[in-house]
Amino acid sequence: MEQTVKPLRFGHLSIWPPFVAAPIAGYTDAVYREILREAGCPYCYTEMVSAKGLVMGGEATFALLEHSEHDRPLAVQLFGSDPQDMSDAVKKIQQTGIEFDAIDINMGCPARKITSQGAGGALLKDVSRAAEIVQAVKSATELPVTVKIRTGWTNSDKAVEIALRLEAAGADMLAVHGRTVAQGYGGKADWDVIAQIARSLSIPTVGNGDITCPKQGVALLRESGCAGVMIGRGILGNPFFFTNLHRLLQGKQPETPGCSERFEAAIDHLERAAQRFGDHRAMLELKKHLGFYFKGMKGASKLRVAMHSAKSWAELVDTIKQASAWSDGAQEA
Ligand SMILES: Cc1cc2nc3c(=O)[nH]c(=O)nc-3n(C[C@H](O)[C@H](O)[C@H](O)COP(=O)(O)O)c2cc1C
Repeated sequence: MEQTVKPLRFGHLSIWPPFVAAPIAGYTDAVYREILREAGCPYCYTEMVSAKGLVMGGEATFALLEHSEHDRPLAVQLFGSDPQDMSDAVKKIQQTGIEFDAIDINMGCPARKITSQGAGGALLKDVSRAAEIVQAVKSATELPVTVKIRTGWTNSDKAVEIALRLEAAGADMLAVHGRTVAQGYGGKADWDVIAQIARSLSIPTVGNGDITCPKQGVALLRESGCAGVMIGRGILGNPFFFTNLHRLLQGKQPETPGCSERFEAAIDHLERAAQRFGDHRAMLELKKHLGFYFKGMKGASKLRVAMHSAKSWAELVDTIKQASAWSDGAQEA
């Protein structure tokens, strides 16, 4: 199967397999991206970063740009509503000396605090401004400029028209989440609309929405005519997605991770987070991740309650280790 799955190409980049990790604010930080890379993820985005925050020089905003040298190729994703802010933000990033491989523009976020500023998904209601933003960012960088959109604000009638306007403005690749902004994360992603966009554009389209396993991802890649696919929630607590993707492409059977592998992966994530953020912040940050590692496992809801009541990083690790020993015993019994 390896030969029949072609790389995703745009700008100077050639990404294989053409499966990319979605930006997920609060989750795909530098620590989790490193874990995904080791599992074989070929392309990542930063979490979304405020262009205004960069222009104003906010320390927390700049911290979102940090990444290790192994975390490449990597796109920095910006959100904003003002073309000038967006191009100034790109120049600020270049001044930091932190290197990226592409600049991505968020035109899909449905959160009210973002759309009320005219940013994220709200740009799909003002396509002229959206196109101006693409042009402004293009004029500030030599890097490929990509855009992540949804299929529309409340319906997808103009999805193809919007995509064509962004291509004409200079976008080098478009990632399309097959939901409208109004849908939030509910309902089902509409892969027919994604396929229509993929057929209409000359630049590559990356389809996104509801991919949960590599086999389904390969099938949607083929059926939709997209040049790549993007996985969001399906990779939370599941770096195994990428190890299994590589197995599948080598003609091997994907392996469902057992309880002990999931516990091991969760503890590894906790340890890396502590190294980067310190124990206390690692405990707070990781509580939300950990539930995903144990989803569907016997005793997961009891474990979730115990994890949430942990008062320190050490207590959290202990809780997981105890549950792990218990589950090993249960497996052996
Ligand atoms: C908690 C959460 C945070 C997200 N943060 C971002 C973000 O920062 N930038 C972005 O473009 N999309 C963001 N998304 C959307 C995902 O990238 C993706 O488009 C969406 O989850 C659909 O893909 P999926 O069905 O595979 O999850 C976020 C989604 C979730 C659930």
